[in-house]
Amino acid sequence: MVEAVKEIVFASNNKHKLDEIRDMLPDGIQLLSQAEIGFNQDVEETGKTFEDNALLKAQALFDFSGKVCFADDSGLEVKALKGQPGVKSARYSGEPVDHKRNVSLLIKNLEGKKDRTARFVTVICLLTADKTLFFEGEVKGTIAEAPRGDNGFGYDPVFIPEGENRTFAEMSPEEKNAISHRKRAVEKLLEFLKYL
Ligand code: IMP
Repeated sequence: MVEAVKEIVFASNNKHKLDEIRDMLPDGIQLLSQAEIGFNQDVEETGKTFEDNALLKAQALFDFSGKVCFADDSGLEVKALKGQPGVKSARYSGEPVDHKRNVSLLIKNLEGKKDRTARFVTVICLLTADKTLFFEGEVKGTIAEAPRGDNGFGYDPVFIPEGENRTFAEMSPEEKNAISHRKRAVEKLLEFLKYL
C-alpha cells in the first residue's frame, strides 16, 4: 500500500483505459483523468522513442498539476521494416489518422518479406516529485497476409500474437486485454505502486 500517493493522474481521457486501470488499482489510490484535473492541452508527440513521448506527456501533466502522473505511448514494431511503424504507428500512412489505410500500407510494405515477426509495445512513464520511471510491456507476434476480424482497433486485424492462429481482431476484447502490451505495462506499474 502506498501511503504518500493518494491521487495519481493518467495522461488520458479514454474511458476504457481509465476504467481498466481503476479496476486494478490497490485501495486508497484514486486515478484521475487529465480532464478531471482541468488539463486540456494537446501534447505533441515529437519524440523519437516511446519513452520520449511518454515522458513528454507525463511531464506536461506534472508541470501543470504537481501531482504524481503517468502517461503511456504504444505502437507496433515490425522487424523486417527496421522497427517501423514504431512511434509513427498512428500516422504511418499520413494525416488524418486512418487505421485501415495504415494496415494496407503495412501489408504492402511487407510484400515479399519472409520475416513477418513484430511486436506491440507500450511504455509507461511515471513521474513523482523525485522520480522518473519507465515500465514496458510487449506482446510478440507476426503480421498476417491479410486483415481478419472485426474487433479491436489499429493494427489488430493483422496482428497474430505468439501461440495463436487468430488475429487480435478475431479475439474477444477480454482475450486480447489479458495478454496485451498495455496490460503488461500497467501490471508492472501497479506492482511498483504496491511496493513503493
Ligand atoms: P497509443 O499510443 O496507445 O495511442 O497508440 C498509438 C498507435 O499505435 C495506435 O493509433 C495504433 O495505430 C497503434 N496501436 C497501439 N496499441 C494498439 C493495439 O492494441 N492494437 C492495435 N494497434 C495499436
